[in-house]
Amino acid sequence: MKRRSFLGFAVVAVMSGSTLAQETLVSFKVIEGAIPKSLTGKPGDPTNGRALVVKRETTCLLCHAGPFPDQRFQGNLSPDLTGTGSRWTEGELRLRMVDATRLNEATIMPSFYRVDGLTRVAKNLRGSPILSAQEVEDVVAFLITLKDQPNDRPKDRIKDAR
Ligand code: HEC
Repeated sequence: MKRRSFLGFAVVAVMSGSTLAQETLVSFKVIEGAIPKSLTGKPGDPTNGRALVVKRETTCLLCHAGPFPDQRFQGNLSPDLTGTGSRWTEGELRLRMVDATRLNEATIMPSFYRVDGLTRVAKNLRGSPILSAQEVEDVVAFLITLKDQPNDRPKDRIKDAR
């Protein structure tokens, strides 16, 4: 009996915690594997998006490589981002950035705009998403520019880097 009421309290505490945290996120609709609408209603800035993608703290390049001749260290755990703007629509890219687990429950890609249902988040970071809504838009605006182009081929990229 005592145990059950403690459990009840714990569940309510966790639920209200996540409700509070969720209020910090703007609401969005997922339609057929995409978030068609901008999170902010403002166009993203692709230049800032690129800067965010190559920034170490954002962690993209731990897993991904891409057309970034200026970046020495790039991951190979995940698809190369070269041409990703040809493979996916803007809305599909937005959903991946917000919460890739909605497309693949088992993905290792972090949910960049989500605060609930996460484990092992440092205390001081709980309740805030990794990227802000505008940063998500900036990254999406950059990714959509990564269309397949002949000079995106890895061989050419190595040449560019010299
Ligand atoms: C821990 C590894 C990891 C990190 C960090 C990561 N991703 Fe991913 N990403 C993946 C994996 C794995 C996939 C393949 C699909 C899946 O598993 O969901 C993927 C898929 C993608 C795709 C679709 C690729 C395609 O064209 O098929 C894009 C775009 C993408 N990630 C962008 C990013 C960006 C931008 C960042 C940083 C903000 C990032 N990812 C951080 C692992 C990661």
